[in-house]
Amino acid sequence: MCGILGLNSHHDVAEHLIEGLKRLEYRGYDSAGIATVTDEGLQRRRASGKISNLEAVLRDRPCPGSLGIGHTRWATHGAPTETNAHPHLSGRVALVHNGIIENYRELKTELESQGRVFESETDTEVIAHLIDMALDAGHSPAEAFHQALGRLTGAFGLAVIFAEDRLLMGARQGSPLVVGLGENEMVLGSDAIAVAPFTRRVMYLEDGDWCVLSQSDAHIFDAQGVTVQRPVKTVAASAALAEKGNYRHFMQKEIHEQPEAISRTLSAYVNAARGDIAVPEALDFNAVSRIQIIACGTAYYAGAVARDLFARYAHLPVDIEVASEFRYRTPPMTPGTLSMAISQSGETADTLAALKWCKTQGLQTAALVNVHESSMAREADIMLPTHAGPEIGVASTKAFTAQLSALSALVVAAGRARGVLSEAQTQEAIQHLLEVPRLCVEAIECETQTEAIAHQLLDAQSVLYIGRGAMASLAYEGALKLKEISYIHAEGYAAGELKHGPIALVDEHTPIVALAPSDEVFEKTFSNIQEVAARSGKIIMISDAEGLKRAEGVITAGLEIPASDPLITPLVATPSIQMLAYHTARLKGADVDQPRNLAKSVTVE
Ligand code: AGP
Repeated sequence: MCGILGLNSHHDVAEHLIEGLKRLEYRGYDSAGIATVTDEGLQRRRASGKISNLEAVLRDRPCPGSLGIGHTRWATHGAPTETNAHPHLSGRVALVHNGIIENYRELKTELESQGRVFESETDTEVIAHLIDMALDAGHSPAEAFHQALGRLTGAFGLAVIFAEDRLLMGARQGSPLVVGLGENEMVLGSDAIAVAPFTRRVMYLEDGDWCVLSQSDAHIFDAQGVTVQRPVKTVAASAALAEKGNYRHFMQKEIHEQPEAISRTLSAYVNAARGDIAVPEALDFNAVSRIQIIACGTAYYAGAVARDLFARYAHLPVDIEVASEFRYRTPPMTPGTLSMAISQSGETADTLAALKWCKTQGLQTAALVNVHESSMAREADIMLPTHAGPEIGVASTKAFTAQLSALSALVVAAGRARGVLSEAQTQEAIQHLLEVPRLCVEAIECETQTEAIAHQLLDAQSVLYIGRGAMASLAYEGALKLKEISYIHAEGYAAGELKHGPIALVDEHTPIVALAPSDEVFEKTFSNIQEVAARSGKIIMISDAEGLKRAEGVITAGLEIPASDPLITPLVATPSIQMLAYHTARLKGADVDQPRNLAKSVTVE
């Protein structure tokens, strides 16, 4: 997703904008640019591709000035070219934008009829022209900005600078924006990570807010132009620690961070000393008749795994919904439904829109999020935190296991509250949960074997991931991990479904990754594995020592995970599928942390 940064400072800002944009690379982008206000007026430098290309442009043509904006663009309207890169200019105005202006065509037609000439294919450019035209009509910069905002339909996070005033302005409607209160400088950014190098004192704008930042102070207004106060928060130091350390990629670092991420997340729900599980007071599982999980991508698969666990340990029905489909199929609402959004960023547009829709239906809503100040966290009745820390790799790893950890704790709490788990069974389940960080450390210790096995996937055209029950949902997540970072097609399938079609794909060129712990359905899954082996399929089996021993002579390769209770097996098996995808992609030389076409947080529908 696009990244935004603005600085109103007492020193030249170009280099600081570039450094800040580099911290936003994780969001995914395909072009970048900055603009500053100089004595000669607005200066702009842009480049398609990586920020290094923009740095080369700036080396040839420096961009002085202590007031500026920067942007990393994830193309929505118009190809990822220099011409379409932000900032966009109109007269005395330079502007960057994250989101989609849904009525830009009508606005563009209106502006062109008034003689305005456009240079780009973007929706964004119309906003710059609207502001500049209002300036032409004699309005002040703040009036011109506010007036332009009133013409826009859609989602936007904006940063604007004016050639004739030392003012930086911003606005938020659906795309997050943070104001940073620095030392003798004001900052505007897409998120706290972008702002962290300049200050850890931030104010989160709400939807409809817009702001005017001089070098020394910040004024925030609501959609009606009335001054509003937003609380000043101090961003956790971790937001400034978005560094790779001695890992090759953020993704590898974040796979290895999972035991701590899981431990931190569990401790938000499980009190090991008291052997107790605490959920937010507003969450009464006795009053919940069913849970409706709404999410996208990896977060969706976390919900899919949880569906099986809620059924087994709490006898609580769970529906899982792809957020982008959910509200358009007019789902029947039943009393006692808890609508739970799951999201690492808490800003995914599809999920946020679905959550807001559920609220209009009068349902109790919860948001299980990693960013506790996010839009979803503020929108939902109940916030269920994960504590994975900032996740920089576009492919979600520690956020997934943190989500699964929180969900597994909620499963046990629900099982106890609904009388499905006795006190003894609850204590036993809590002990299993507390083992997860240690067992994940053991699973991650198999990274060398995983790297060796990854060579078997390198030349595959397609890979099938199979499993049963919660392992089937994990198979889908494994397939997503592989395809999104290695660009090898992969598909997850319930193992029992192979014989109903997909087995036609099986030959000596199609690797099958089988998630088959030695649980109560192992023999069934092993039968499916044998069906594949009988057709020369190459099977990579992820299982514990007992399962791998049973499969000797049938499988091509085995990845061992520690034996574990079924409640926590999905958590313990996850690092293996992540490392398999990571090493395959790394061996292919793919851009692991910023895969092509992808964004970290998709804040457009
Ligand atoms: C994860 O590997 C993917 N990059 C993507 O599917 C992601 O899970 C999805 O976009 C949802 O993001 P969220 O958790 O921030 O809502």
